[in-house]
Amino acid sequence: MKNHGDYISIGDLTASEVDDVLALAAEMKADPIRFRGHMEGKTLALLFEKPSLRTRSTFEVAMNKMSGHSLYLAPADVGLGKRESTADIARNLERWVDVITARTFAHQTVLDLAEYANVPVINALTDLLHPCQALADYLTLREHLGDLSGKRLCYVGDGNNVAHSLMLGGAQVGMSVTILHPEGYEPMAQYLDQAAKIGEETGAKIDAATTLDAVDGADAVYTDVWASMGQEEEAAERDRLFRQYQVNGALMARAKEGALFLHCLPAHRGDEVTDEVADAPTSVIFDEAENRLWTQMAVMYLLTPSR
Ligand code: CP
Ligand code: NVA
Repeated sequence: MKNHGDYISIGDLTASEVDDVLALAAEMKADPIRFRGHMEGKTLALLFEKPSLRTRSTFEVAMNKMSGHSLYLAPADVGLGKRESTADIARNLERWVDVITARTFAHQTVLDLAEYANVPVINALTDLLHPCQALADYLTLREHLGDLSGKRLCYVGDGNNVAHSLMLGGAQVGMSVTILHPEGYEPMAQYLDQAAKIGEETGAKIDAATTLDAVDGADAVYTDVWASMGQEEEAAERDRLFRQYQVNGALMARAKEGALFLHCLPAHRGDEVTDEVADAPTSVIFDEAENRLWTQMAVMYLLTPSR
C-alpha cells in the first residue's frame, strides 16, 4: 500500500502488502497511543450515498486516535452525480481534505473519485466490493485461527460485495473460500477468476457451490443480509429463495467442531442467521466490528505521508 495511493479493492494489493496492513493493524490495536499525532491537522471526508453504523464510526474514531478530524457528508447533502458531477466533487474535496472515504452504489463512482482526486480514496463499500470489511475479517480470523493457510471459510448467501472481497482477501492470505449461494446469486466471474489466480500463488482454493455440503468441515462460516442496500424491492423474492440457506444450528453442525461464525453486520436475525448462532461463544461478529477500527486506521496511516 503506497503513500498517496488509493484502496479500492483488496485484490489490487500484493499478498505481502495485505500482510503488512494486518500486521500494522495488530500493532495499532496493541498500542494505539504510539500512533497519536500522525493525522494532526489532517481531515478525512466521509462521502456516503448509503447508511452506515460501523464504517462511519470506525473511520471517525480511527481519525481521532491519530489526532485528525473527519467531515461526514451525508447522502442528501452532496447529491453525488445529481447536484454536482462526481469529477467536480473530487476536484473540490482534494483542495480541502487529505483523504476521501466513499460509500457509493455504482462502483464506477469510487473509481471516478480516485481518478479525479489527487488525495487517497478509500472504498467504504460499493455495489461490487467491500474491501475494508475483508481486512477486518481476516485480522479477526488470524486472531482466532492463527495461520490461515490450509483453512477454509464458507460464505453462505448472496454472491455480493462482501462475498467478492472475502474471496479476494482469502486468496491473499492463503485461506480457501467457498461461496455457497442459491442458483442465480453466484459471485461475479471476474472476481472468482481474479481470486482463483491470486490463490494459485498463495495456495488458497476459491470456488462457488449451491449445495449445503459446501459447509462440511469448514473452519469458519460467514453470512450477510439476503438483500443488500439498494435491493430492498427484491427482499420478498430473496427471502423465499434464500430461506433454505439460513445459518442456523443445524447448518453450523456440518462445519468443523468449534467453527467460527462471522457476519459483517447489520444482521437480520431470524433471516440469514439465528440468534443461537449469532450469540454462540464461537461467534466473532463483534470482534470483526472492532477490527474495522484497527484495520482502517492502518490503511489511512499507510496511505498518508508522515509529517
Ligand atoms: N459492516 C458494515 O459495513 O457496516 P455499516 O454498513 O454499518 O457501515
Ligand atoms: N451486502 C451488504 C453489506 C452491508 C455492510 C450491503 O451492501 O448492504
